[in-house]
Amino acid sequence: MTESYGVGIIGTGFGGSVHIPGFQAHPRTKVVAVASVPKRDADLTAKKYGIEHAFESYREMLKLPEVQIVSVATPPFLHFEAVKDALKAGKHVLCEKSLATNVEEARQMLKLAEKSGLVHMVDFEFRYIPAWARFREMIEKVGTLYTVNVKIFRGISLGMKWTWRESRAKGGGGMVGDGCHYFDALRYWFGDIVRVAGIERTFAKEAPDPETGKPKAIDADDTFALLLEFESGGLGVVHYTSVAPGGSGAFIEVAGSHGGLALTANEEILETPSERRPAGWHGYLGFDEMRVEPNRVEIPDRLKEAHGMRYDREDPLVFPFLRLVDQVVKAVDSNTPLSPTFYDGYRAQLIMDAVAKSYKSRRWISTKP
Ligand SMILES: NC(=O)c1ccc[n+]([C@@H]2O[C@H](COP(=O)([O-])OP(=O)(O)OC[C@H]3O[C@@H](n4cnc5c(N)ncnc54)[C@H](O)[C@@H]3O)[C@@H](O)[C@H]2O)c1
Repeated sequence: MTESYGVGIIGTGFGGSVHIPGFQAHPRTKVVAVASVPKRDADLTAKKYGIEHAFESYREMLKLPEVQIVSVATPPFLHFEAVKDALKAGKHVLCEKSLATNVEEARQMLKLAEKSGLVHMVDFEFRYIPAWARFREMIEKVGTLYTVNVKIFRGISLGMKWTWRESRAKGGGGMVGDGCHYFDALRYWFGDIVRVAGIERTFAKEAPDPETGKPKAIDADDTFALLLEFESGGLGVVHYTSVAPGGSGAFIEVAGSHGGLALTANEEILETPSERRPAGWHGYLGFDEMRVEPNRVEIPDRLKEAHGMRYDREDPLVFPFLRLVDQVVKAVDSNTPLSPTFYDGYRAQLIMDAVAKSYKSRRWISTKP
């Protein structure tokens, strides 16, 4: 077994703030190179984190034999080329979400990755936020899934400048930027989603162009709502906006045959076991009698600590990313892709494309491969 794997990072935004500290904190990975455009970004990042090589062209970085794992953290419209080139160069790949900007691209990326025999994974690190990880451990307590409600109201896209995040073609928008983590989590917790019916909107119509200062049109969604059906027969609703001032964040609530489970915006888990059902269940009840006090679930330390790092809500994604790096290392050790793989990225992409199709046609759309 190799002592430590060499990692090359492409992109210094989330790549710089989360991928590099995450890989550096892992005892089995060493960040040996970083690539970004312009080169100055790569140089500054390399200096800040003590990384040996800095490149403008990621293709030059791919020539380094000491780079065994490539982490693609460019905007989504650039993932396809970088992933293709990295696989061709024989590198294992971790790609940021969303895997691609459309299903066709995602399908090709999956095919190429499977054919390569290399490890291919997608950064759905929300799976490893401690409360999310505990939530998954508890899912079977709800019994058969009846329905799940995911509400995400944020005010994050207000007063911004125009970037790739405002362009649908470049992989911007709330669904791709944020929603896809929730689609992945729903699949991870409850199994595959087989059809959706959705609606989307762009309420914030323009943002200042950073170069000219003039208003530039936004065509990516900032708000959406969808109904979904799981293979198991369970139902779901996902309801999102990123332009709601004072939005209270994400709230997920599950109702099943054996009780309920909720994950709050404060990362608390509330459990309502079925024995808490109020007296007179089948009869008429006043609101007070219907109210059921949930248990607050403890999140154990084993889900909050890894490799000497403790989960920090001030910097919430480095720790879950570090736990995802555990999966990457295990996958490379055994040369077997481990979930979340490109297949998971492809399934999330099927959902995102289906919502747009559903909205255009006003029909339910299958999300089966
Ligand atoms: N998993 C998460 O929770 C999470 C959070 C934020 C962003 N992301 C994802 O990370 C990716 C990047 O997003 P971001 O917020 O860092 O964007 P960003 O615009 O802040 O950064 C993108 C980086 O890519 C670099 N870049 C652009 N073209 C390049 C090229 N040809 N070669 C090398 N580098 C190039 C840019 O210079 C920049 O450093 C996106 O896919 C986004 O969805 C994921």
